[in-house]
Amino acid sequence: MDFFFDILDKARRWMTYDAEVSFYYKHFPSLVENAEVNLRPMVRADIDRLFAIETSAYEFHWELETFRSCFKIGYHCWIAERARDVVGYGISTIGAGESHVLNVCVAPDYQGRGIGRMILNHLIQEATRFKADSMFLEVRPSNPKAIKLYRSMGFNEIGTRKGYYPARHGREDAIVMARMLG
Ligand SMILES: CC(C)(COP(=O)(O)OP(=O)(O)OC[C@H]1O[C@@H](n2cnc3c(N)ncnc32)[C@H](O)[C@@H]1OP(=O)(O)O)[C@@H](O)C(=O)NCCC(=O)NCCS
Repeated sequence: MDFFFDILDKARRWMTYDAEVSFYYKHFPSLVENAEVNLRPMVRADIDRLFAIETSAYEFHWELETFRSCFKIGYHCWIAERARDVVGYGISTIGAGESHVLNVCVAPDYQGRGIGRMILNHLIQEATRFKADSMFLEVRPSNPKAIKLYRSMGFNEIGTRKGYYPARHGREDAIVMARMLG
């Protein structure tokens, strides 16, 4: 019975959500344009939207199943939302005193507005809250925007993983970056 009510509740929330968002977009576009970006924990219903952003932002993207697994396992999955529209996300693991950033991504139309920095900053705060003392991530050498963001947030290059990523011609190495927390 609980399951049935859960489904009904989700359907109700989605219908209300769609109606509200299209209403505001139509009648008050500038209000939506200037709305603040907030962070909240991911819920299962976000997964399809995340996947749509992922496929539009990366040439070599995660599969839908990867998002489902991250959610199921209980990784730290955060959503950046503006006027109730998902515009980005960050996913990390935290355990044994370490945190690993698995994904930080902003929808192409919203990039360059400080949202990536906001998401990463939140993942750092979460890792600190859960008593991690170091944080790691991998990045493609061909992704200067992300490298610049990570450097500016205190990450340093500590190594390379050979052939870590798929690439157009063969594989691309990953730069491993890390920073201390706390
Ligand atoms: C990388 C990414 C997460 C950055 O998010 P964003 O919201 O666009 O970035 P922000 O507006 O928060 O900018 C943060 C910093 O990133 C760097 N940056 C952002 N856009 C940049 C650009 N066009 N050129 C160079 N550096 C850039 C700058 O250091 C910037 O800080 P500054 O504005 O003080 O100079 C985003 O571009 C993205 O989602 N890219 C596709 C997915 C991806 O590559 N994720 C990272 C995987 S490792």
